[in-house]
Amino acid sequence: MDDHRPLRTFGRTKARTLKPRQAALVETLLPHLAVDVSAEIDVDVVFSGPEPGAGLAPAADAAPVGGGPLVLEIGFGGGEHLVAQAAGQPEARFIGVEPFLNGVASCLRHIEESGVTNVRLHQGDARDVVARLPDASLDLCYILFPDPWPKLRHHKRRLIQPEFLAALARVLKPGAEVRFATDWANYAAWTLEHFTRDARFVWTAERAADWQNAWPGHVQTRYEQKQLGDCTPIWLRFERTP
Ligand SMILES: C[S@@+](CC[C@H](N)C(=O)[O-])C[C@H]1O[C@@H](n2cnc3c(N)ncnc32)[C@H](O)[C@@H]1O
Repeated sequence: MDDHRPLRTFGRTKARTLKPRQAALVETLLPHLAVDVSAEIDVDVVFSGPEPGAGLAPAADAAPVGGGPLVLEIGFGGGEHLVAQAAGQPEARFIGVEPFLNGVASCLRHIEESGVTNVRLHQGDARDVVARLPDASLDLCYILFPDPWPKLRHHKRRLIQPEFLAALARVLKPGAEVRFATDWANYAAWTLEHFTRDARFVWTAERAADWQNAWPGHVQTRYEQKQLGDCTPIWLRFERTP
């Protein structure tokens, strides 16, 4: 793991005590779906289902998934968007990352209830996952309503930083997309400034409607519904240059 531990970009990692069912899912289902970030991630292995003889019951939820597009969702919250996208695209492979245990537990419940088999999870910092993904392995990355850190002195805690964009650029395939949304005007401007300053990305908007409206197939997130920001959501799509 990288030793230059960057500043924390998230708040709490645990809130109320998990309900018994959620605690049981964390105990039994999460180990089947967890992505090991202690070494380079072998995407095919991650989606190949539990190792025979690993002592794990072959959970339907960790069934093998073929080599479809790889999608990363950073900070999936309660997992509603992640699981809805996975259900709609069973051929794609989704890795969701979220440090907040209660969010992970909620996501596990959505996975179990929906029966999707193409989701893997990491409870922790997405930067640890990005650091371990192979070069040019990712087709799409969602960053939806990331923690805004609106105070000036906290801007350094925002996920979008030059170092993070460099790390993300390494793992995105040429032409792969980053989909970013926020309802904080200053974070939208900040993100736009950082991505457009980085030659490895282009902003794909051609008209105002492209940043005023969500992309086709968007599923509303929990934070989006709460409308806690200072503007209507701004939708930014960036493409990794070849
Ligand atoms: C404001 S919430 C939005 C959650 C969800 N995307 C939604 O729209 O409902 C931001 C989430 O990002 C997570 N987060 C913050 N920093 C992160 C990081 N470095 N890696 C992964 N998740 C992170 C937080 O724990 C939090 O759940």
